[in-house]
Amino acid sequence: MDRVRMGVIGVGGMGSGHCNMMGKIPEVVLTAVCDVDAPTLQAVSERHGVPGFDRHEALLDSGLVDAVLIATPHYFHAPIALDAFRRGIHVLSEKPLAVTVSAADQMVAAARESGRVFGVMFQMRAEPASVAARRIVEEGRLGEIYRTQLVMGWYRSQAYYDSGGWRATWSGEGGGVLINQAPHALDLFTWLGGLPCRVTGQVRTRLHDIEVEDEAFAFLEYANGAHGYLYVSTTEVPGVQRIELCGDRGKLVLVDGQLAFHEVEGSIRAFTVENTEMWASPKAHAVDVALPERGELRDHAVITRNFARAILYGEPLIAPGEEGLRAMELINGIILSGKTGEPVSLPVDRVAYDRLIAQLQASSRGKTRVREQRVTDPHYV
Ligand SMILES: NC(=O)c1ccc[n+]([C@@H]2O[C@H](COP(=O)([O-])OP(=O)(O)OC[C@H]3O[C@@H](n4cnc5c(N)ncnc54)[C@H](O)[C@@H]3O)[C@@H](O)[C@H]2O)c1
Repeated sequence: MDRVRMGVIGVGGMGSGHCNMMGKIPEVVLTAVCDVDAPTLQAVSERHGVPGFDRHEALLDSGLVDAVLIATPHYFHAPIALDAFRRGIHVLSEKPLAVTVSAADQMVAAARESGRVFGVMFQMRAEPASVAARRIVEEGRLGEIYRTQLVMGWYRSQAYYDSGGWRATWSGEGGGVLINQAPHALDLFTWLGGLPCRVTGQVRTRLHDIEVEDEAFAFLEYANGAHGYLYVSTTEVPGVQRIELCGDRGKLVLVDGQLAFHEVEGSIRAFTVENTEMWASPKAHAVDVALPERGELRDHAVITRNFARAILYGEPLIAPGEEGLRAMELINGIILSGKTGEPVSLPVDRVAYDRLIAQLQASSRGKTRVREQRVTDPHYV
């Protein structure tokens, strides 16, 4: 095999963008598409000249694909991935991995059992500043981390929420900003700073006419005694994504793809014990961090190419599927804490979250107003 035959399941806004991207990747060929919406399926299937299927099982059984990219609404990621792994087909899932940690666990277990490649579309990991930040952490240049912060505001309009019957409902989406916009930031934040052991969160709906949260806040506690703060919303303008990690030997600030790193000369802890001058303070200097070169490909194409190369040549994945669980822990943990008013220990209690999501689904009002649009985010066109 010199090219991976790829099927895309769910060819709405993001999935149709993925179909357009496939032609730019030498290791991949788009061979089939699937969507439950007939006009959408017909348009994408004709545009790319590939067979279209209205059920994912039919695509998986067609013999036309080695791998699938799943870009349906989130609730379908897990069942479709399980069906694919059962048939020995490799899976690249859109974010979030699933709606619940328990469903995500099943995806990870099925991938292991099948021995197939399992990736998740966390394209921000491939950004040069993210790669450089991760290297700083891996080299231990922050020292022991004592404080973290994540602030993410990615504005969304009411028209965005009205654009699909599944969006912003407990029954169709399983959450709001935490499960849809925040996963990229939550993934980077935990990829760099690790997973807290306890979260105390609040969720609320401030600006939009939706039943799920458009704002979430959380106080984070880590096993080493560090603490952190997290805020995510779709209500803020101008948008921002700010990650701050403070350690005994350095401070890293990653804001909208720009990286700043300050190295402490020595250790704050050691200086505090050893220094004898009343007004002295440890010195820190800004480090000029060299960023890796960007290749010709950007964003999703980098992750998709890497996924294909993992299948063809065993290249290590940039975003392995099982690592998608970390963002899931925070998403479910903060919602569980917000709804119960209690701190939540991580890993999240699977049974407790399954019970909560079942209650939220049962209480879902559904949508009274849908003005359907399936448009790819212009950032990714
Ligand atoms: N990585 C990113 O940057 C990024 C950006 C946008 C969306 N996404 C993810 O992509 C997924 C889809 O989001 P979207 O904005 O494209 O939504 P969308 O509503 O525009 O498209 C979803 C498509 O899936 C189809 N579909 C629904 N159920 C299906 C099923 N069971 N089988 C086959 N097709 C089915 C729908 O008919 C629709 O065409 C979400 O999980 C979202 O989080 C990721």
